[in-house]
Order: sequence, then C-alpha cells, then structure tokens
Amino acid sequence: MSSSPVDASGVWRFRELLPALDGPPDSVITLREGNTPLYELPRCARIAGVPRLLAKHQGMNPTGSFKDCGMTVAATFARQAGFRWVACASTGNTSASMAAYAARGGLHSLVLVPEGKISWSKLSQALDYGAVTCQLRTDFDGCLTLLQELVRRAPVYQLNSINPFRLEGQKTIALELLEQLDWQAPDHIIVPGGNLGNSSAIGKALLEMRDLGLISRLSKLSVIQAEGANALVRTLRETGGKQLVSVQAETRATAIRIGNPASWKKAAHVLETTGGACEQVSEIEIAQAKAEIGAEGIGCEPASAVTLAGLKKLVEQKFVSPEETVVLVLTGNLLKDPDFTIEFHRGELFQRSPDETASAALAPLRRAPIVLDATLDAVMQTLEQAEKS
Ligand code: F0G
Repeated sequence: MSSSPVDASGVWRFRELLPALDGPPDSVITLREGNTPLYELPRCARIAGVPRLLAKHQGMNPTGSFKDCGMTVAATFARQAGFRWVACASTGNTSASMAAYAARGGLHSLVLVPEGKISWSKLSQALDYGAVTCQLRTDFDGCLTLLQELVRRAPVYQLNSINPFRLEGQKTIALELLEQLDWQAPDHIIVPGGNLGNSSAIGKALLEMRDLGLISRLSKLSVIQAEGANALVRTLRETGGKQLVSVQAETRATAIRIGNPASWKKAAHVLETTGGACEQVSEIEIAQAKAEIGAEGIGCEPASAVTLAGLKKLVEQKFVSPEETVVLVLTGNLLKDPDFTIEFHRGELFQRSPDETASAALAPLRRAPIVLDATLDAVMQTLEQAEKS
C-alpha cells in the first residue's frame, strides 16, 4: 500500500530479485512502469483453438512498450555509475524509452535509428524527451555495430538489451505475470523475437522463480519472428542453435526488423531449457492477427501481433494442445505505429502482395474510414448498411 516510488513501480517492487541498489531507494529513476494488465482474449482464443488465452499488455507502460521495465533499472545503474550520457541503437521503442528515463534522471541521451525504418510515433517520442537523435543511412544492425564502436571511444553508457541491467528489469514482466496468475504457471508463454533480449529475460525469470520455489513447473516459452527477420528460426533449423545465421531483415513489423540478433545464444538456451518452440509468420498473418487483437478492444503494434499469428501455427502443429492455457506478451501499444493500422484498414498494406487469396481473407477485418457529405441521410444509410453486413 506504500506510495513511495520504489514500491509503486511494478519493477522495483520486485527489487529483492534485482541487482542491489547502491544508493537510497529514492535514487531510482522511475515512471511507475510495470503494473500492466493481463487481459482475457476470448475471441482470439476461439480463433486460435485454445480454451483460455491471456494477453500481458506491455504496451500499457509509460512510453508504450515493455522496454520501460528494463530501462528503469539500466538508467538507474547508469546514473549510479556516474555516466552523464546514455546511448542506444533502436528500431524505435528502446530509443523512446531510453530518452524518457534519461530525461527523468537528468542524463543526456544519444539515439541511433535506421533512417526511414522506424515509425513516426516512436521517433517523435525520442525528440520530445530531448534525445540527440541520429537517423543513420543503414539498418538496425548497422546502427548497433556503430554504437558498439562508439562506446569504446566515448564515455557513453550503452542501453541496448545486451546491457545486463535491462534484462534484469525485464524479468519483472514474468514475475508480475505469475503473481497475477496466483503463481500457477501457464502452459505456454509466447513472445515476439527481435534482438532476443526479452525472451532471454523472461526465460531467466522463469528459471529463477522455479529455483526459488515460487512456481512448481516451467511454462514453455516460445519465440515468434517475422518471416523476413527470421534469424533465430534459421539458426535453430539450420545449425541446431550452434551458429548464428544472420539475415537481411525486411518486415513491416519494424520493431523486429533485425537480422543479427545480439542475444541469440541466450534465447536459444531459454527455448531449450523451457521446451519452447520457435516459429515464423508471414506479413499477412501478422496483419490479420493484429486486426483480430484490435477487434477485442485491446490493440497492439504489429511486432506484438506475431504472438497470436504464431500461436495459430503452434496449435496447427499440435505443439499447443487444445486444453492448454496460453499467455501472449503484447510488447507495444497500438498507437506506436498508426501508419500500419491505417494502411491495413484502407486496404493499402499489401497492394503489391502476390498472395491474393491470403490478402482476400483480410477483407472482413478491414474498417476503412468512410468519407461522406455531412448529412443525416448519408450517415443513416451507412449505419443501416453496417447493420446488415
Ligand atoms: N516487440 C516490440 C514492440 C519491440 O519494440 C521489440 C524490440 C520486440 C518486440 C523484440 O524484442 O528485441 O527483446 O527480442 N525492439 C527493439 C528496439 C529492438 O530498438 O526498440 P527483443
């Protein structure tokens, strides 16, 4: 019931399971992150063919993505270690989150993002929170390589998910989820995979909870990637997880447009230890799943919707059986990428797609805005038509 910031934060209230703070409790940089809702998705459950489907909505965090759970911890330790500058390479969400926490903590922040390949919403957050924002003419992987060289030359602290404090903070996503489920582990937890930090963090939390006796069995943690950014899928299929297969990433789910994931070894280990699966889904499957989640009144960004698209595949493959409980981790808010949503509903997203049949399946999900004369008749007619369809 305490109203102190460390207790009100959904991350720091688990501080016994986080690295120990050097300073007093009020030395944390917090925006009251975490404490995110767990929603039932009954219609998506029916579509996927499972009895109970839950969504842990990380898009309800202060900057609209799960990154805040790691960033509060990493920014706090950056300041504690005496750094004045923090920096990251990003597909958008990390930069938005880092810029916010840096601003709250009185730190300077440097953002490297691929030019033209992140959503305006995410870019606008970094600008508003005062980051020095560089749009580099390369992809995410190019930004990350450059950042790694930069931190060797300049006294800036790296806040990408290879930063161990980020992963420690992101563990609380799983801690909070299990608390919401009265410490009864669900059969499956499904997360999107990009740079693979989040799957590693959630997996680490599951193992720690089991070792502490908080849960009696492990949930299977599965990772879903976009077909066009499927480095982990290929790494597991082609080398048995021994060597990274990098890819030239391309997907409209720009948050996970990553071809050379930094934490692939950790993620492969987590999949093996928990018995999870790794799948890939197409652009059309992502768009369809996103609209189905939206139609439940929840909404998420494209990268988050790979979880539902992947679940459908895992049910088809009988990896998830019809009586099992599944939790999807929705990593980002619907408002993170409005262009994707608007293009989808206007029927403009797959104009050049060769897969006509699959894109026809999307038609019933579309709700294009209707431009009308401002007359009562026009609106009444539209209402009547909508009622019939
Ligand atoms: N979902 C969203 C909305 C993301 O922003 C990201 C990653 C992921 C999933 C994948 O998580 O990298 O831990 O496997 N976004 C990073 C960024 C890369 O820069 O914002 P991951």
